[in-house]
Amino acid sequence: MTMITTCIFDAYGTLFDVSAAAREAASEPGREAFAAKWPDIARDWRLKQLQYTWLRAVMGEHCDFWKVTQDGLDWALEASELGDDPDLRARLLQLYWELSAYPEVPRMLGALKAMAMNTAILSNGSPDMLNGAVQSAGIGAHLDDVLSVESVSIFKPARIVYDLVGARFGCTPEQVLFVSSNGWDAAAASAYGFRTAWVNRMGEPVDRLPAVPDKILSDLTGIPNFAEAP
Ligand code: LAC
Repeated sequence: MTMITTCIFDAYGTLFDVSAAAREAASEPGREAFAAKWPDIARDWRLKQLQYTWLRAVMGEHCDFWKVTQDGLDWALEASELGDDPDLRARLLQLYWELSAYPEVPRMLGALKAMAMNTAILSNGSPDMLNGAVQSAGIGAHLDDVLSVESVSIFKPARIVYDLVGARFGCTPEQVLFVSSNGWDAAAASAYGFRTAWVNRMGEPVDRLPAVPDKILSDLTGIPNFAEAP
């Protein structure tokens, strides 16, 4: 089997904890109404954000990920009857720029670099959002690059997005381990020809799509071992 030379990570939900923004805002004083509903709002926010990426890709109506992040939040807040709280909206969006990484991320990336792997993010996020998150999580030193769909102006899972990896690192798809917590992203990357690991933190069923991930893990700690012997 071809050796893995390049480990590529989805960003939101994979390296960065996307529910952290809503969880943190819910713990702040004066946000009791939000605290009572935050898990539903966080789930709707993420779902609408992703739906808008897929719909815009199909419609040929690209905008950047910051716009769909705001649009998804507005839908979720209105659905929970909290659409008239501009301070809450602003706070949630601010926290989205400063998401923390999952605790195992720095050590896992460090282990990959010690193995001389290429490492990068490949994300729907806009370059400035991704730079904000990479900086606040303090993981920039472990990443060779941060690749954004903005350079091709269409969201995942368009194949042209996955082409960015070979163009940047000069590798074939079989030399790439692609890691995502999004089942659909892992499935699409498998269909593209990458080796894939789906980080299934919530124990969800496998997506019914034309390809399946090569490996299912509950967090990122097993990635260096899998990259060594996929
Ligand atoms: C990303 C989204 C899909 O980072 O999580 O691309």
